[in-house]
Amino acid sequence: MKNRRSLVAANWKMHKTVGETVSFLEALQDRIEAYEDREVVVAPPFTALAAARQAMEGNKINLSAQNCHWEEKGAFTGEVSPAMLKDLGCDYVIVGHSERRHLFGETDEIVQKKTASVFAHGMVPILCVGEVLDEREAGRTFPVVNHQVERALDGLNCRLVPALVLAYEPVWAIGTGKTATPDQAQEVHSFLREKLSALFDKTIANKIRILYGGSVKPDNVDALMAQPDVDGLLVGGAGLEVDSFQRIVQYRFPGE
Ligand code: PGA
Repeated sequence: MKNRRSLVAANWKMHKTVGETVSFLEALQDRIEAYEDREVVVAPPFTALAAARQAMEGNKINLSAQNCHWEEKGAFTGEVSPAMLKDLGCDYVIVGHSERRHLFGETDEIVQKKTASVFAHGMVPILCVGEVLDEREAGRTFPVVNHQVERALDGLNCRLVPALVLAYEPVWAIGTGKTATPDQAQEVHSFLREKLSALFDKTIANKIRILYGGSVKPDNVDALMAQPDVDGLLVGGAGLEVDSFQRIVQYRFPGE
């Protein structure tokens, strides 16, 4: 039994209109109960956040944005600030997703600024790290995620850190149908927890939830969640359908 409350998050990326968001959430909340041991989070696109917040009023699903700028306001055409997201009722913001890093050129420095700013605005970052296929094949997974974590958390106030959610998302597993095996996920999660322990301390490291992301599906969720350092999931494609997301939220430990 893990002593961390698990977290299952659906990252919808650039999918779903306001109407589709509301229908999904109405269906989902009829089907899942309020769990003591697991937290459910949905990350719709910016345009549907306000409607999602309203549709989720009075239930236990939490709301995440998928990205933000680090400044509170200013001349940044097209950007959305953490203060605006807080105002809408967001609980979390996904930071440093591999699509942001690889398709939109986000550097470690940008990821660090966003992480700090999300915390400073009273929300919790879901900080994503992960290696690309070439790095894995060259045996460089540990140094790559080590560097990403170190840079992203640079200068962060220790008091805030236990609330952090870290997501290990091997880039080669995102949207490809190729999931990391439970052992591969556990190996990196355990490495990341050691790293957090070295950066902060063991008590803090044991509080931080480390999610796995990358082709999570109803048929691999139970084996992933059975790993001692896998504290939850960041789900892309399978989080777009109520049926599959419901099954993922309702993961079961072996023997249950
Ligand atoms: P996927 O995406 O589940 O579709 O692989 C995961 C993610 O990008 O967070």
